[in-house]
Amino acid sequence: MNSTQPTTFSVTFPSNAEQLARIQQHLIDWFEANGRDLPWRRTRDPYRVLVSEIMLQQTQVDRVKPKYAAFLEQFPSLEALAAATPGDVIRAWAGLGYNRRALNLQRTAQAVINDHEGRFPETPEALRNLPGIGPYTAGAVACFAFERDVAFMDTNIRRVVQRLFVGPDDTGASDRELIRIAEAAVPQGRGWIWNQAIMELGALICTASRPRCQICPLRAECRAYAAWRTADQDVFNYTPPPKPKAARAVAESKTPFTSTSRYFRGRTVDTLRQLEPGHWLALAELGPRVKPDWADADREWLLTLLHGLAADGLIELDEAGDQARLP
Ligand code: ADE
Repeated sequence: MNSTQPTTFSVTFPSNAEQLARIQQHLIDWFEANGRDLPWRRTRDPYRVLVSEIMLQQTQVDRVKPKYAAFLEQFPSLEALAAATPGDVIRAWAGLGYNRRALNLQRTAQAVINDHEGRFPETPEALRNLPGIGPYTAGAVACFAFERDVAFMDTNIRRVVQRLFVGPDDTGASDRELIRIAEAAVPQGRGWIWNQAIMELGALICTASRPRCQICPLRAECRAYAAWRTADQDVFNYTPPPKPKAARAVAESKTPFTSTSRYFRGRTVDTLRQLEPGHWLALAELGPRVKPDWADADREWLLTLLHGLAADGLIELDEAGDQARLP
């Protein structure tokens, strides 16, 4: 950390090795007894781990499970995914949303084959150099496929590390400080189970609102729990403090989702998915299926939307700009 930067709170917790060892053991014991048996926890195949991690980034576990199985049935290997048409991959992504993830996943597969002789790099640093792989995914693949003892952050891990080692959600710590704490907390040789266990605790117990502290295996060691209890707050009904006024105002004035461009982009791709592979759809037919109150005057709006999708590689527009299809 930058030594000139003042720290307004302590980030040296856990302060002794015994306490950290106790936390590690309690959490791992809890996970072994209570962790869910999820398909991607039964494999160390980096391709499968990558598919699961990309799917899980914006989609709930229960929704991912059947999609994960179907996707791997259709694309059982890195080679199969790399060789598919983008349209096939986009079709297989139906129901998951954020379609760009599908294309990024395929680009990653192609890069592993073309630039790494079909073998995944094993360290977070090397994984980071692949297209479509950010710091979270690089850490998750290094840990969950190659069992590297590394730390990485998603919203669940961040919340657990913050509460356990720093304090209640509003006692600030920067991402840099949290990742430093998380790194120091990984038990040597047990990074895989430790990271799965932290994620599971964040998903099942240490939830954003109404955390289930009464059944938490780390209650006795947790800084947030100690602070909430000391303040005599009702920890069993804990909900995070309201967002600052400014953030709330922005959130509340937000355009309804069904008039956002993300919504119409999704509807466009959904409509084109329903065509036979390779088939084109005329804009005059596409328009009313994407926008129920479609009028001819919406043609320019639709073209702008389609050019954006085409630039992202999610669709193809013919040269005249009269029809569209999946790539
Ligand atoms: N979310 C992201 N990665 C996960 C995993 N390995 N298990 C459960 N949920 C997850």
